[in-house]
Amino acid sequence: MHIDRNAFPQAARIMDILKQKMFMLYKAATFEPRVPMAERVGLLEQVATTLIRGLDADQREARLAGAVQGYIEMSLEFLKLQRELERTGRYLLADERTAFENVYNREGAYGQSGYYLNGLLLAQALWPNHFSFWRLFRDRFASQLPTPTPRVLEVGVGTGFHFGELLSVHPDVRYTGVDVSQKAVDYCRRYVFGETPLPDHIHFVVDSISSGLSAGDQSQDALVMGEVLEHIEDPAGALREMWRVARPGAVFFLTTVVFAAAIDHIYLFENADQIRDLVAHAGWHIENELVLPVYPRDTPDMDRRPMNYAAVLRK
Ligand SMILES: C[S@@+](CC[C@H](N)C(=O)[O-])C[C@H]1O[C@@H](n2cnc3c(N)ncnc32)[C@H](O)[C@@H]1O
Repeated sequence: MHIDRNAFPQAARIMDILKQKMFMLYKAATFEPRVPMAERVGLLEQVATTLIRGLDADQREARLAGAVQGYIEMSLEFLKLQRELERTGRYLLADERTAFENVYNREGAYGQSGYYLNGLLLAQALWPNHFSFWRLFRDRFASQLPTPTPRVLEVGVGTGFHFGELLSVHPDVRYTGVDVSQKAVDYCRRYVFGETPLPDHIHFVVDSISSGLSAGDQSQDALVMGEVLEHIEDPAGALREMWRVARPGAVFFLTTVVFAAAIDHIYLFENADQIRDLVAHAGWHIENELVLPVYPRDTPDMDRRPMNYAAVLRK
């Protein structure tokens, strides 16, 4: 796979490092047939450029190499834990408190140079399913928001990827980012704003959705919750809480997983219908949906096979 180094210099550098450090993952990302690398390289360039903004040449190289290392560790961890899940039928953890102690509050996982958030950020472009979800976010969610000054609440800000994308379409967004992890909030702030102080219309809250949101009833025009539902003990309660703060007609971008392992996954969905049922019970209407198997030969209707799920919901 040839990457135009003039058009995509940082993406090319990332792929060089990946090729050198872990050829198997380079090959998997590059020769993935479902969404060709040529389509994903622009997003990889954008993410990498944001990641190294404001750094000098040496720091840039170290930052890109660190992100690739995170991607490798996260991908290998997935493969190992997925084998374990397929053997035991259970996720590793059963409660939010342990996930917080082992992962969200651990520097080696969620810190600026920890493997988890750095890996997740590159996966946004390198994993075809995550890339397809970004397209859904851009084309069916971000473009749907009322203007000007939409009120948007995100739960689980993580890397800041979705927030950054939102801000590029709606620079005047009145945004509240909620995350149980101070480390994630710090990572997100730095990814999106660098060292620049936060504008008045942006707020972060370090809290768990499981203890309820501080936002008022029907106060939000739009909601985002990417890859959080599988991290909480009561996902039905979280979907109802999101419903409470949404104004009538609000849109909600939701992603989660079916039977896909990670070090901090708690709630196991066995198929896409179980997600649809929870969503419908909380009152949401599914406007657009993608159910994408991890393994190319699987189909979206299967049980107990790893899949990524994304939907644009409407109240
Ligand atoms: C796997 S990351 C996903 C990040 C990002 N939303 C994405 O789609 O890439 C999960 C995020 O949810 C946060 N999180 C986990 N449990 C949470 C909870 N109960 N309340 C709020 N945030 C939570 C984690 O700290 C982490 O930032």
